[in-house]
Amino acid sequence: MLTLGIETSCDETSVAVVRDGLETLSNVILSQVEHSAFGGVVPEVASRVHLKTIVPIYRQALKEAGVTLDQIDLVAATMGPGLVGPLLVGLTFAKGLAWAASKPFVPVNHIEGHLAANILETPDLDPRHLTLIVSGGHTMLVEVEEFGKYHLLGQTRDDAAGEAFDKVAKLMGLGYPGGARLDKLAQTGNRKHVRFPRPMKSSGDFQFSFSGLKTAVALYLEKLTEDELETQKADIAASFQEAVVEVLVEKSIRAARERRLRDITISGGVAANSRLRSMFEERIGRYNLRVFYPSLELCTDNAAMIAAAGYYRFQKEGPGEFIVNAIPYLRLDSE
Ligand code: KG4
Ligand code: ZN
Repeated sequence: MLTLGIETSCDETSVAVVRDGLETLSNVILSQVEHSAFGGVVPEVASRVHLKTIVPIYRQALKEAGVTLDQIDLVAATMGPGLVGPLLVGLTFAKGLAWAASKPFVPVNHIEGHLAANILETPDLDPRHLTLIVSGGHTMLVEVEEFGKYHLLGQTRDDAAGEAFDKVAKLMGLGYPGGARLDKLAQTGNRKHVRFPRPMKSSGDFQFSFSGLKTAVALYLEKLTEDELETQKADIAASFQEAVVEVLVEKSIRAARERRLRDITISGGVAANSRLRSMFEERIGRYNLRVFYPSLELCTDNAAMIAAAGYYRFQKEGPGEFIVNAIPYLRLDSE
């Protein structure tokens, strides 16, 4: 079964073709560069770029997959959460396409899409597992009973992990979005240079909070001269990253052990972080746990994960309704 996936919830325009929820035939991703001058995503600009690029990207995705629209069996698109204008571009395009070509249509929850990125790439993943979703908009620990059945264990009370990376990167003059740049810079720095707080690391629950840590970095930076900042930049980046990552890793491992789950998956843009990956590898060693993260391309927003999630939803529930609207604050259904 061939699924055409469409993702436009934020600043990536992406269309993909995925076979049986497991094999990616194409995954064309355009990361909009127009926002960097503004230091953040401008929703109106994002909508306009999606509008301009969605058709050529759709054509390229079919071409790269070597298929025609006739051969597509299902159309899936992100309905939320995300920015309403950008969401509407992809959702409306997908509904129009599916309706005109008489194909079934499935709306997809973007968070479930991130979660599905791991299922797409890890065929032997235990359907019952723990997932850590860490993106620019979310930081959540979710117990997955099976695809579609979730139990939210905890989430951030303020900033998402990716948001904290982006804000600190901005404070350090690394540009926007700065998560990946901060990660790169941190690779040459000393992680022990500053002992920044590990917010809520030892709290008994699975909640997170990153805005205080961002403030701690801001206060530290304020005291430095420009020269000091230049010489310490990599060390500060490494120290900040160590604090975020340690909280994420420690809480995930504790959740997996308490809930008796063997497999942990990580998804969302921050799953690309090199220190998050290496610390997980270091620390799961003493427990009987396995950790999985998607390939770098599937960590950040992309349509292959949306196609995969759409396919699994369709298997469970059949087609969705054409009248469905974009839902900017859509949540992951949990019990
Ligand atoms: O999943 P995503 O593409 O979009 C959302 O759904 O939010 O995640 C984007 C986020 C941004 O905050 C970006 O800075 C962060 O993921 N990110 C990283 C890295 N690569 C992307 N954060 C830390 N280290 C990275 N290597
Ligand atoms: Zn995302």
